[in-house]
This record gives sequence, C-alpha cells and structure tokens, in this order.
Amino acid sequence: MTLHVSTAIFPVAGLGTRFLPATKATPKELLPVLDTPLIQYAVDEARTAGIERMVFVSHPSKRAIERHVMEDARLTRELEARGKQEVADALSDAALCPVEDDVRFVMQTEPKGLGHAVLCAKDHVLDGPVAVILPDDLILGPVGCLSEMISAYNARKVGHLVATMEVSEDRVHRYGVLSVTGKDGAIVLADGMVEKPKPQDAPSRQAVVGRYILDETIFDALDTQKPGAGGEIQLTDAIARGASTLGLGGFQFSGTRFDCGSKAGMLEATLELAMDDPDCLAVLKARGLVDDTASFAA
Ligand code: UTP
Repeated sequence: MTLHVSTAIFPVAGLGTRFLPATKATPKELLPVLDTPLIQYAVDEARTAGIERMVFVSHPSKRAIERHVMEDARLTRELEARGKQEVADALSDAALCPVEDDVRFVMQTEPKGLGHAVLCAKDHVLDGPVAVILPDDLILGPVGCLSEMISAYNARKVGHLVATMEVSEDRVHRYGVLSVTGKDGAIVLADGMVEKPKPQDAPSRQAVVGRYILDETIFDALDTQKPGAGGEIQLTDAIARGASTLGLGGFQFSGTRFDCGSKAGMLEATLELAMDDPDCLAVLKARGLVDDTASFAA
C-alpha cells in the first residue's frame, strides 16, 4: 500500500537572529508581508495541498504563533458585536479550529537546529512520508508549491523530495546544493547534497529551499544524526545520508520564492504583493517605483 503525504511539520522554534530587533518579542513567523503573517501563508499552502495533520514545532516563548493560527472565538464575537461580520468571517476562515482540524503543538525548548526541530515532531506524525514547510521561505505562484510537489512525488516516488531552484554561481554558498545525476520532468535526480559549498566546489546550481517531502525513515536518520554546521542537527545532513539508499530528488517549483528570513527578501515579497493591492500600488506609482502600466521601474 502506498501511503500519501498527510502530515505537514512547521518548524517555528528558531531564534530569528537575522531579523533582530524585530524578532526580539515577535516571532519571525508572525512578521507580516503586507497584512498577513508568514505562518498564515504556510498554513494556507498546507491546507490547499490537502494536508490532514499539522504539527507546529514551536518554543515556549513563541506562544503567539499558536494564538495566531488557532481560532479566537472571543475576538470573532467581539468583531461581530461591532458589526464587522466580514472581518470576523475572514478571520474564522483563515484560522484552524481545535475541533475540526487536526493540529498539534510540540515544543523544542532549545534551538538545536532544523533537523532537531523535525525530530521533535516524530511522535506526532501520521504514517507515511511527511511534508516540512519553512514559513520564512514564502513561495508565491498560481499553484501552491506543496500541492504541485505532492503531485510530482505521487507520480514519481523518490525517497526524499526537496524543493529546489537554480541560483547564480555567486549565491550557491548560501544554500544546500544538490549533486545532480539526471532529470525527469520537473524533478532533478540527485545522489547527494552539499551544504553551503564554495562556488568552485558546488556540484550544481540547484539550491534547496524550504519545502520538503521526506520518507518516514528520516526520523531514524535524525535520531542518530551528529551535530553539523554551527553545532546544530542539520536536516540536510540527514537527508543526504539517505540519498544513496532511498533516492533523492529536487523539485523545480513553478512559483517565486522569497527569503523572508532576511530584510531584502521580505522587502521583495512585500513589493510583489503590494502590486495586487490598489492602495499600495498607488503609493508605489506615486513614488515612481512602478510605471503607469504597473510593472516595476527598471
Ligand atoms: P532558520 O535558520 O532560517 O531560522 O530556520 P532561525 O534560526 O530562526 O533564523 P536566523 O538564521 O537565526 O535568523 C528555518 C526555520 O526553522 C526553524 C525556524 O523557526 C524557521 O522557521 N527552526 C530553526 C527551528 O524550529 N528550530 C531550530 O533549532 C532552528
């Protein structure tokens, strides 16, 4: 029997040091792109992809994430009482319901790395491969990245499937990079992965970004994974270890990815979404940032 991808893990316990001081009291995952926090985009993407169980790996100091993603009946009633039915409905639709939705919150009390965060979800996932979504990697496009990734995974089972995009040579040192052996449609086949290589050592320019579909054996691999770069348990190390036996693929998604863990990426994402908002577009035009045909000025 082939098991489908029914669990999504959201690692949200990190310190968000690149975005200090904004992240001193506010979790990075709650920083908004326009009016919507990053975590909301991630939850919407998982819902659209048909995920049944959502597991948030959080930290006790980041309870605000739980308050954001879960329904707030008191706020809904308050908005209704003030005649703001439309806002109340929109908030309820976006929120997860403790009764109807299958949601778990697990605490990672020490930020020991992304691999360790995923391992914290081990006892809370449903059988079969699991999806991992990093909310600070915002991927925008007509089709949700996780939806198209699950379709590709179901059509061609590779052990682990990671989202990849081609980056320029001078940027490979910022990413995990696949060692590519072939291609099958939107999937590049690989036999390994190198973390943050120097340009001259990079095996390809296929860079891994924050969407993964991982074979369930990933938890055994993480259990025995030794700390890697930065003394952290690295998810990429555990994925790379399984590559030769399980197979590894890079999924070239159709959307555009924004690194919202950085100021520049957050700005780019904000500008991109501002183009779809009439009030914001008017500001961009008034400042000469876009021309009258509403494309970005060169
Ligand atoms: P990042 O490495 O981008 O996040 O991890 P960070 O460590 O919070 O940020 P910087 O680099 O210090 O600015 C990607 C995702 O993994 C989570 C983060 O919360 C983020 O969503 N993460 C990272 C954990 O849940 N636990 C960790 O130990 C590390």
